[in-house]
Amino acid sequence: MRNEFTGRTALVTGASRGIGAATAVALARAGCARLLLHYASSPEAAGQTAARVREAGASAELLAGDLSTEAGIRAFVEALGERARAVDILVNNAGSLLQRARLAEMSYQLYNRVMDLNAKSVWFITQAVAPHMVRRGSGVIVHVSSIAARNGGGLGATVYAAAKAAVSAFARGMARELAPHGVRVNAVSPGTVDNDFHARFSTREMLDAVLRQTPQGRLSTNEDIAGVIVFLCSDAARNIIGQTIEVNGGAFMI
Ligand SMILES: NC(=O)c1ccc[n+]([C@@H]2O[C@H](COP(=O)([O-])OP(=O)(O)OC[C@H]3O[C@@H](n4cnc5c(N)ncnc54)[C@H](OP(=O)(O)O)[C@@H]3O)[C@@H](O)[C@H]2O)c1
Repeated sequence: MRNEFTGRTALVTGASRGIGAATAVALARAGCARLLLHYASSPEAAGQTAARVREAGASAELLAGDLSTEAGIRAFVEALGERARAVDILVNNAGSLLQRARLAEMSYQLYNRVMDLNAKSVWFITQAVAPHMVRRGSGVIVHVSSIAARNGGGLGATVYAAAKAAVSAFARGMARELAPHGVRVNAVSPGTVDNDFHARFSTREMLDAVLRQTPQGRLSTNEDIAGVIVFLCSDAARNIIGQTIEVNGGAFMI
């Protein structure tokens, strides 16, 4: 069955695990023809995502890159090269807290890495891809922000939260610039997803505390977030521009 995804090429950053892996597989199942899968330190997991993408009928190509330094971002953009021309759908998903650090504990180096990975990479990967979408007069970009952008994040996550607030602002500003050229930009803002991210950075007690304040009575899954990203990429979302969609089971309502 042909649909708006048929024949499309999608680039998903951070596609080795979690939300990015679920999104890549969901886009392949929706009908995308070609998935460019970025990863950093998990080549085996990225290979598993590629296998699931191929099972769904799309081609998959792996692209490595540490996006937590400016040099790494530049090297990734360089390696992306001519492939950037073909990207119809860009999902800027790669991101991490890297480590919790309160005000006094934050070093200049960690501050830069958190900002580079979560905000600067989104800007410059979009800078590499968007001009080709503009030339074609079509394209969709989804950034992955966070509930932390709205609530300042948990203890030790303040710089990460600020980087995610930048990502939500990028969605609005880029949308304003690109929508007249047929390119839609939005963001999805997950609440607490019960995945590797929190297995690494949060305790069970912290997750249980979120759960108690979540009307739906469960934490989000990778697939919950992936489903909203695919929706934002679809024609059903054609009039949604510059929005950040909160996906959190009701844990945060505005
Ligand atoms: N989990 C949550 O509750 C939650 C909530 C709000 C927002 N988010 C956001 O959702 C996005 C996906 O996170 P997730 O929950 O799926 O986390 P995850 O399971 O930890 O996956 C993170 C992804 O980002 C990549 N990544 C990590 N460090 C990187 C680096 N230095 N350079 C390039 N890529 C790097 C990882 O690649 P490798 O494994 O190959 O290193 C992995 O593919 C992130 O932007 C995160 O901030 C998550």
